[in-house]
Amino acid sequence: MTNSTGKINVLMVCLGNICRSPSAHAVFKKLVADAGLSEIISVESAGTGSYHIGEKPDKRSREAAKKRGYSLRGIRAQQLQVEDFSHYDYLLAMDENNFASMLAMAPKQYHHKIRLFMEFANNAAMAVPDPYYSGADGFELVLDLVEEASAGLLSHIKQQDLH
Ligand code: 4NP
Repeated sequence: MTNSTGKINVLMVCLGNICRSPSAHAVFKKLVADAGLSEIISVESAGTGSYHIGEKPDKRSREAAKKRGYSLRGIRAQQLQVEDFSHYDYLLAMDENNFASMLAMAPKQYHHKIRLFMEFANNAAMAVPDPYYSGADGFELVLDLVEEASAGLLSHIKQQDLH
């Protein structure tokens, strides 16, 4: 265990918290549940921007997720807060812009917790591209990438944090 909550706390972060990070949140949450680790690993999501606070995930994300057996129900957009850097153990940026915003906001002592989510994927892509202005393929690509990175993240946490 890595902190006082007794859990490993993971925060998925994008810009709006309505497309990529809610998708990553739901995909990783299901993987954790299927592995029987929901009591040990907790996952949430947030956006660096404030535009969509309180909104449901984008309908296109909800529909694409549902087709693959994931539910985004109950997720509402929230903005990343400075307190999140102490609470969470892994704060995972969907792209380099999110990563830079998070580093700019976080006290230096927490910089090591901030990573690009795609670092955990066995894939050359280093970012989950913003699908907001894309067609349906953009939303499928988000799911392909976050499924891969989620699998890598769970293996990493099992090796690094759970013994
Ligand atoms: P997300 O996508 O960061 O994956 O949630 C976006 C959602 C909304 C906007 C940009 C990206 N927007 O500019 O409103």
